Amino acid sequence: MAFRKFSFLSLVAGGVAQTGLAPKKFNSLPLGAIRPAGWLSDQLNVQMNGLAGHQHEIHLDVSQVNNTDWTGGSGYYSNLEEAGSYWFNAAVPAGILSNNAVFNNLTLNFLNYVIDHQDSTGWLGPEVGTTKPRYLWGRYPFFFGAIQLVEHDPTLADRVVPALHKFVQVANTMLHNNGEGVDDWAATRWEDFVMALQWLYDFHPNGNEALLIDTMKMLKATGDPWEQVFATANFPTKAVDNTPNPFPVLTWHGVNMAEGLKALPSTFRFTHNQSDLARASEGWDNLFKFHGRPSGIFAADEYLAGLEAHRGTELCLVVETMFSGSFLYQVAGDPKYADRVRSFSSVAHSQPLTPRHMWTRQYLQQQNQIAAKNMTPNPFPNDGPYSNVFGLEPNYRWPKFITNSFVVTPDNKSLVQVYLGPFSTSTTLAGNNAVTVTVDTQYPFSDTVKTTVKAAQAFTYLVRIPSWVVGGTIAVNGAKATAVAPSNGLHAVNIAAGTTSLVLNLPAPITTESRPHGAIAIHRGPLNYAFDIPRTQKILARNAAEPRAVDLEFDSSGTWQFAIDPSTLKFVPRTVSALPSPVFDQAKPPFSMTVTACPISWSVAGDTFAAVPPTSPRCTGANTTLTLWPYGATKLRISEFPVMHA
Ligand SMILES: *[C@@H]1O[C@H](CO)[C@@H](O)[C@H](O)[C@H]1NC(C)=O
Ligand SMILES: *[C@@H]1O[C@H](CO)[C@@H](O)[C@H](O)[C@H]1NC(C)=O
Ligand SMILES: *[C@@H]1O[C@H](CO)[C@@H](O)[C@H](O)[C@H]1NC(C)=O
Ligand SMILES: *[C@@H]1O[C@H](CO)[C@@H](O)[C@H](O)[C@H]1NC(C)=O
Ligand SMILES: *[C@@H]1O[C@H](CO)[C@@H](O)[C@H](O)[C@H]1NC(C)=O
Repeated sequence: MAFRKFSFLSLVAGGVAQTGLAPKKFNSLPLGAIRPAGWLSDQLNVQMNGLAGHQHEIHLDVSQVNNTDWTGGSGYYSNLEEAGSYWFNAAVPAGILSNNAVFNNLTLNFLNYVIDHQDSTGWLGPEVGTTKPRYLWGRYPFFFGAIQLVEHDPTLADRVVPALHKFVQVANTMLHNNGEGVDDWAATRWEDFVMALQWLYDFHPNGNEALLIDTMKMLKATGDPWEQVFATANFPTKAVDNTPNPFPVLTWHGVNMAEGLKALPSTFRFTHNQSDLARASEGWDNLFKFHGRPSGIFAADEYLAGLEAHRGTELCLVVETMFSGSFLYQVAGDPKYADRVRSFSSVAHSQPLTPRHMWTRQYLQQQNQIAAKNMTPNPFPNDGPYSNVFGLEPNYRWPKFITNSFVVTPDNKSLVQVYLGPFSTSTTLAGNNAVTVTVDTQYPFSDTVKTTVKAAQAFTYLVRIPSWVVGGTIAVNGAKATAVAPSNGLHAVNIAAGTTSLVLNLPAPITTESRPHGAIAIHRGPLNYAFDIPRTQKILARNAAEPRAVDLEFDSSGTWQFAIDPSTLKFVPRTVSALPSPVFDQAKPPFSMTVTACPISWSVAGDTFAAVPPTSPRCTGANTTLTLWPYGATKLRISEFPVMHA
């Protein structure tokens, strides 16, 4: 049998055929198993008391959840197909994590409405009973929301799982029918459906394994070729304003790219091809090398925007990159993904919030941002002059960060703390080992993380030690602190049955990062530090239905043109018994820095954004001392500084 000699054997690794889905390195816990505490819980509440928690009262598109109105009519989202579905995906975890009864009721009603109106072919969503063309993508965020609801309340599986399997059948038929239902957005975001299918495969396959895998392969075959988009040979090394994209144009769109980061790890699970993970890693590195921000995220004011500090980053892509980074970490286990999620979650993520109440947020943020106002001329080739004004746009930044902060090893024997904020979690590990973990910390506004573990039986606890930590220690049950010894980013602790207390101390040195034009950015641990430019504020517009929802303009009211001497940087920690609420606000964080600076000449481009930082500028006046704050607590800022030459 010549056929058997090579082709069959070549598909066999180690004598075992690679069928089904490859396991992830770590598995996530169901929604609700991890709860926020401390500043994170406060942040979630502030958000839910603001626009995020009230959006459904203002925007008709999400309060009307029936089939004619799922697509909305407010014009709020550019692609109306997605409005209700997108809201649902975020509202489910936001409601459950903040114990918000109104929200939980709304999301359950939404779920029930959509499932009750599934048509006989299996189709779900607004096009039921209409002549509208059926596009697949608008449903994917709905699937994520539905999956989270089932994880939180397994009794819903009996309703949700059969509905999803029925939908898979119609989707599979469409995909085989020349990729029917794959518009430009479905072509770029196919991985979201693949992930929903993988959840079905992992937890409720119901005998449909072959159809599920075939549908995953069809989605990839009819979708954009992310393995090529992320390849170094094809990856754009600068802002793409004038670069033709050899692939469909939406692949270089920031939010799509943030979502597309999940394409290769989800592909790996059905190809078992290590090259998919290698390419995912290469693409991640390319993205941050050529478009990265000191805040931890990347720049895309719609399309990839290169390294210049006045270009913008859209908030949606921050949220999506965090989610993708968590997924990449869970599939591949490389700590670089988790390190980056932590760094921008505590900076960019908390940043674009106005006053105390979070009724406004900013669509585009800049690393060097000297005004937030109508910009003429405007530095963003594809976003309007109004895009960095703080306006009526909600955001749900924290829920997915919270739900991915603990994971378990595939054998369910070990619990892993991936993110170091204040959380608690309860879960049952292998062998019916009931475990509760409470993390009491002000991190990232403190270097100390105190954790209490209660376990029915002994097990191995793993805690991530970020790559920036130098001289980290751990003390177990009050014993003398010893140096942490992470392996692949994780420090292992043998936990005995009963209660164990752990105290981690995770100091980090101040570091500088080289930026274009000889400028530098300042970091310590997970936080990026910026000069908070004094500002004036003006209300441009007020929402008629909700007077707390306003459009806000900020203008600098003081000098921002400084060069700094990095050798004088000094970290200034304050110890506080409780963090202020919200902690990301002007001069609020207990961590700051000082640095010697001198005024320089640095021009503006137009009248609203800083020109590129001058290289080797001369001091034009006397030295002064600047205070630098965590990026997330600044509204107007400089965070890529020219270096001082006396
Ligand atoms: C959908 O909701 C809108 C507004 O709540 C209502 O006017 C309309 O009749 C509803 N349509 C259906 C089919 O239930
Ligand atoms: C929950 O939703 C139902 C159906 O819309 C409504 O009648 C009920 O008042 C809601 N309850 C709460 C607590 O919001
Ligand atoms: C694995 O990936 C490589 C590189 O993309 C590709 O050439 C190869 O065909 C893939 N193999 C399978 C089985 O998918
Ligand atoms: C680990 O726990 C999950 C969730 O309870 C379960 O689905 C899975 O089968 C378990 N894995 C093993 C290897 O026991
Ligand atoms: C100003 O700061 C620079 C850099 O730290 C230092 O070299 C210089 O001596 C200072 N000048 C004065 C007048 O203090």
